[in-house]
Amino acid sequence: MTTTVIILAAGQGKRMRSDLPKVLHSLAGRPLLAHVVDSADRLKPREIRVVHGHGGERVQKAFAGRALAWFAQNDQKGTGHAVRLALPDVPAGDIALILCGDVPLVQVETLRKLVAKAKAGKVAVLTAELADPSGYGRIVRGAKGAITAIVEHKDASTAQRAIREINTGLLACQAGRLAKMVARLKANNAQGEYYLTDVIGLAVRDGLSVVGVSAESEDEVLGINDKAQLADAERIFRRRQTRELMEQGVTFVDPERVDIHGTLTCGRDVVIYPNVLFEGDVRLGDGVLIEPFSRIRNANLGAGTVIHTHCVIEAGEIGADCEIGPYARMRPGVTLKGDVKLGNFVEIKKSVIGLHSKVNHLTYIGDAEIGEQVNVGAGTITCNYDGANKHKTVIGDGAFIGSGVELVAPVEIGAGATIGAGSTITKDTPPGELTLSRSKQATIPGWKRPVKK
Ligand code: UD1
Ligand code: CA
Repeated sequence: MTTTVIILAAGQGKRMRSDLPKVLHSLAGRPLLAHVVDSADRLKPREIRVVHGHGGERVQKAFAGRALAWFAQNDQKGTGHAVRLALPDVPAGDIALILCGDVPLVQVETLRKLVAKAKAGKVAVLTAELADPSGYGRIVRGAKGAITAIVEHKDASTAQRAIREINTGLLACQAGRLAKMVARLKANNAQGEYYLTDVIGLAVRDGLSVVGVSAESEDEVLGINDKAQLADAERIFRRRQTRELMEQGVTFVDPERVDIHGTLTCGRDVVIYPNVLFEGDVRLGDGVLIEPFSRIRNANLGAGTVIHTHCVIEAGEIGADCEIGPYARMRPGVTLKGDVKLGNFVEIKKSVIGLHSKVNHLTYIGDAEIGEQVNVGAGTITCNYDGANKHKTVIGDGAFIGSGVELVAPVEIGAGATIGAGSTITKDTPPGELTLSRSKQATIPGWKRPVKK
């Protein structure tokens, strides 16, 4: 039996108080809906159908390139109405799994349990026991404990409001049966909506067996309706990520103060200080140390490399035993071969630096190819841009660039060459020799500073 997933995502999200459609709000750097789609994907369904409404175009655009089928719900007449729109031509024998775009933390294992119950011919509802159930639909059970109905908070009696078992909004049912039931829904309730939850009462009346699958924890069924819940979800998600990494041996000095927006893969004995943001795909080799306040994106860091405080790494291949920062910026296209030092206030882009080379202070390196054992002095600038085109600087192995040098590209510094401090180099320099361009120093004897009149 194949599964077709339907994700309800047409709601406005009024309580977010934002112009952004609710399901596009970011959780760990990705839209809420992306988390739900990812979980759905892992079930390998026949199709993932998304019901969109508010800001539908923006939502669709954000997911361009993903295999999703879109169903527009222009009037939000309720969850039952949304499912009715998305069900046509789902093969009757499929399992329809209904997910919510604003319930992003649900675990794949839980979804599998729901689907398994539906495959066994039941109507399966994901439920949870909440300390504070207010706002949620309540699970009503009969004398023998079987589920008999779901009553929305707004429609519930005082006695029903005391029930702490709630409907999470997620359910699974054979698609053909579900289609017949949603066609019978009526909007005679407090909100004047077609409630998907009324399907439960219909199923019981039809003699179908309705079962609850209880969520592993309150956390996974958290629905995001406002910014406080979004922050709660962010915290829960972060805990999951850091717990998994800590189980693998990673040391977080404070696992509550790190952000992983993407995937972080770590070797042994990695230590991560607080307030570091990882984005995209980041791999840290054995023994990597990340000091506080850095942002590291799409980068591979070799074993033993240290990132000192306040670095921005926008992409890069960093070899073993490198030392970066404090206050260094690596823009895309950089490869540091190994045992390379990039010091404070160094900006580097689209360049390769060979083994054991040092660029220690206040320097801009762009479009350069730097060999091994090179020392670049403080305040050196590769003048790579002539206002129209970018040009390359090549520095041979063992070269020594004095402080305050301008290398006007295209230019090549020979291996073992020494460039005198303060030089502006516009022509290639021979290997092994000292080259400098420096205006003569002069002293004007007896010169007096002007004084105020
Ligand atoms: C729903 C359930 C409630 C459950 C709660 C769990 C119903 C009637 N109620 O209530 O039992 O406890 O979720 O979070 O199902 N949506 C549409 N089209 C619509 C209406 C909603 O696509 O016309 C989408 C929303 O974008 C959202 C989801 O369906 O993703 C749930 O809708 P929402 O209005 O948040 O329902 P709740 O009142 O939270
Ligand atoms: Ca909701």
